[in-house]
Amino acid sequence: MANILCIGAGYVGGPTMVVIAKHCPQHRVVVVDTNAERIAAWQSDRLPIYEPGLDEAVRVARGRNLFFSTDVNRHIAEADIIFVSVNTGTKTFGQGAGKAADLQFWEKSARQILEHSTTSKIVVEKSTLPVRTAEAMEYILNARGTQGVHFDIISNPEFLAEGSAIGDLERPDRVLIGGRDTPSGRQAVQTMMDIYANWVPAERILTTNLWSSELSKLTANAFLAQRISSINAISALCERTEADVAEVAHAIGMDSRIGSRFLQASVGFGGSCFRKDILNLVYLCEHYNLPEVAAYWEQVIKMNDYQQSRFVSNMVSAMFNTVAGKRIALFGAAFKANTGDTRESPALEICRELLAEHAAVVLTDPHALENARVDLGDAAKRVTFEPDPYAAARDAHAIAILTEWRQFAELDYEAIFKDMIKPAFIFDGRNILNHRRLHELGFNVYAVGKAPLTHFGTSNSGSGI
Ligand code: NAD
Ligand code: UGA
Repeated sequence: MANILCIGAGYVGGPTMVVIAKHCPQHRVVVVDTNAERIAAWQSDRLPIYEPGLDEAVRVARGRNLFFSTDVNRHIAEADIIFVSVNTGTKTFGQGAGKAADLQFWEKSARQILEHSTTSKIVVEKSTLPVRTAEAMEYILNARGTQGVHFDIISNPEFLAEGSAIGDLERPDRVLIGGRDTPSGRQAVQTMMDIYANWVPAERILTTNLWSSELSKLTANAFLAQRISSINAISALCERTEADVAEVAHAIGMDSRIGSRFLQASVGFGGSCFRKDILNLVYLCEHYNLPEVAAYWEQVIKMNDYQQSRFVSNMVSAMFNTVAGKRIALFGAAFKANTGDTRESPALEICRELLAEHAAVVLTDPHALENARVDLGDAAKRVTFEPDPYAAARDAHAIAILTEWRQFAELDYEAIFKDMIKPAFIFDGRNILNHRRLHELGFNVYAVGKAPLTHFGTSNSGSGI
């Protein structure tokens, strides 16, 4: 039996430890966080994050071998293995501001571990970190000399995606474990492999050196985001040429070398990680004096920004070059379906841009309105939050689909159309609706990477989204 601790009870620390505790009843798993509200929510029936399957998984292990606490120091002292899953956002100040990873919470955890440890421990990098962070971690932790206490650092990045986190953790494509090639390093890697072997097939557990593991995480996110920017770049060309981006994606995706996933054109990628991890990769390349490599990856971000602002420009130009005073219903606040997370959500950026155009914005979402209100900050005062999409669309000039919630595809658009101001516009930023049918109902339909279906003849039909 081992005492496993996770520092950081967020979108990663929480679900990851829930699944470890569920599959390892022999181990005691404690998740700590300095955010008392978050810990209280983990202890309650109203979990702090919305994630399909999470409630059921929590019920299996909580109170049995899974515990949540704010007493970070006590649990550090008791732990054998410490996962560190704190936030590592983009630095907003000083050197590297806007690009480099902000490692202050990470380093604080390391110092706290050092201060409260009286026994040897394995310290696991669960957060996404710049390559070679483990070196600094080793240096800090072993700065005091051994005094009989030894720390082994393991890199074990997390690849779960929000909205499918439980499935991703239960059946991961792979678990990656990076460690040192020393006797105690190899032993630490083995201990980690033994934990995951409780439910992950051996052939899916990969071991590498520390630096490969750290860099693989940044690289995986960069490649995934790159695919989205690539298809979004092609969507712009489709709109000029009457090619259909869904048909193009399907055609290229059937090539087994390309593969069909992550080719869904959209309003752009969001979420807390793609942007920050690519910016971090760019910063690292600049740091290692590789400007061409940095510029290559930076373009993935630039294309994403372009896709978002292009969406708003096309809305404005389709609606006769002004949206001032017009009610516009935004369907979706979450950065993707099946999550309440609105961090870096394209929906909120589009919301802000429409407010700048003086539109009367109404935001609806089945799970993300609370987070949206917080993340929008001051701008929230100028937005109407409406949980019912039918009410949101009433008397609106336009609807924009910004999150691919299944619920939005299943609405009665005939009823919605009747209650809207005419001409009524619909902008499908996720390509989840039946565009031909909407057009037949009377909507002017604009979808990403497709020719618009309008009732204006040809003059206004060439712009697309
Ligand atoms: P998060 O902000 O939801 O959670 C981090 C938590 O750490 C917060 O609750 C914060 O209060 C806590 N914390 C910070 N410093 C602390 C300290 N010293 N002691 C105790 N608690 C502390 O972040 P997240 O989305 O869970 O991401 C965590 C890490 O995992 C990041 O590095 C991220 O890049 C990575 N990651 C995230 C995802 C994802 O889907 N969100 C997926 C893979 C990897
Ligand atoms: C992503 C990765 O998929 C995870 O493997 C990784 O662990 C995680 O980042 C992380 O490090 O945080 P996540 O951001 O939760 O997971 O969600 P994704 O499914 O990757 O979607 C990211 C964004 O891209 C969303 O806004 C989504 O709508 C968009 N997207 C995705 C598209 O626009 N098109 C696609 O084809 C796929």
